[in-house]
Amino acid sequence: MIEARELTKVYKSKKRTVIGVEDVSFRVEKGEIFGIVGYSGAGKSSLLRCINLLERPTSGTIKVDGIDLTKLNSSKLREARLKIGMIFQHFYLINQKTVYGNIAFALKAAGVEQSAVPTRVDELLKRVGLSDKRDAYPAQLSGGQKQRVGIARALANNPRVLLCDEATSALDPTTTKSILKLLQSLNKELGLTIVLITHEMNVVKEVCHKMAIMQDGKIVEQGKVYDLFAEPKEELTKEFIDNVVSFNVPERTLAQFSGTIAKVVFKGEIAGEGIISDMLQQFSLNGNFLHGAIEYIDGKPLGIFILELKGEAGAVKQAMAYIQKRSAEVEVIRDGHSPLN
Ligand SMILES: Nc1ncnc2c1ncn2[C@@H]1O[C@H](COP(=O)(O)OP(=O)(O)OP(=O)(O)O)[C@@H](O)[C@H]1O
Ligand SMILES: [Mg+2]
Repeated sequence: MIEARELTKVYKSKKRTVIGVEDVSFRVEKGEIFGIVGYSGAGKSSLLRCINLLERPTSGTIKVDGIDLTKLNSSKLREARLKIGMIFQHFYLINQKTVYGNIAFALKAAGVEQSAVPTRVDELLKRVGLSDKRDAYPAQLSGGQKQRVGIARALANNPRVLLCDEATSALDPTTTKSILKLLQSLNKELGLTIVLITHEMNVVKEVCHKMAIMQDGKIVEQGKVYDLFAEPKEELTKEFIDNVVSFNVPERTLAQFSGTIAKVVFKGEIAGEGIISDMLQQFSLNGNFLHGAIEYIDGKPLGIFILELKGEAGAVKQAMAYIQKRSAEVEVIRDGHSPLN
């Protein structure tokens, strides 16, 4: 659906050259929600704007629905862009127009016949749950309601792709959830492909199927959200994940335990706690849970436990191997103080 290959965007002015995006490649399949995460200045917005050519890439290609947008003339590009909707953190509504007027404006700009506009606006308002605000002005709306207008406007031309630039960053957590729910329902019911950029990992955890993590214009790691949560490879990925599912036990607490401290991660349907108790029994170990949580990511459970294991050193090693064999990841955070503690 979307295929970026070796995209680079360099901003050049008389004084200096800034690299916005550097050698970025990724694919988003039809009907996927793809999250792009990174700190401020990482290049997220630059990359997003390269997808609909609001920003022309310095090099590389961007294909949407099989068409290389970088090769189109301006009228063909305008046509292709109608199939790519976009929403923003600051909504950009026209303050002098009502909700109806804002959406009607987008429809008219796309060449929809005047007579078809009222019905279509009403359809869109129903779709975003805002029928009762048809005649309100933006100043009379909450942030969440404004974003709903933004979404209705972005859907005006029946786009196949929706690009979201920090669409929930100006909203409180509850409103964020309701907007994410709306995006999810558009994704499921309309088969809309969504690319969503955010600096909040919670947003990604909530709705994205795949994600990419950006730093200094580059993608440092990408893959399925579940896989990256279960086994992040890069430090930056770990840092972002730590913000939402922190499994760190404070040093002061750790100091109170003398045994081996291990982090065990169970993926999918495995009942983690059962395996742990089997393991303790089989290898005659004593165990203490220091931390435990089951997170649901992309609808699938991911169990994470931090344990203290006490027993004969060889048995602790064997127990780790046993857990690994039963398809869980084990990471030793700290070896026991002595082999026989
Ligand atoms: N129009 C522009 N002209 C010059 N430099 C730009 C322009 N737009 C972005 N940049 C630079 O490109 C880099 C990436 O910026 P970008 O806005 O893409 O980051 P971002 O990840 O979206 O950040 P934020 O989270 O703050 O929105 C930054 O160094 C920025 O200063
Ligand atoms: Mg940005």
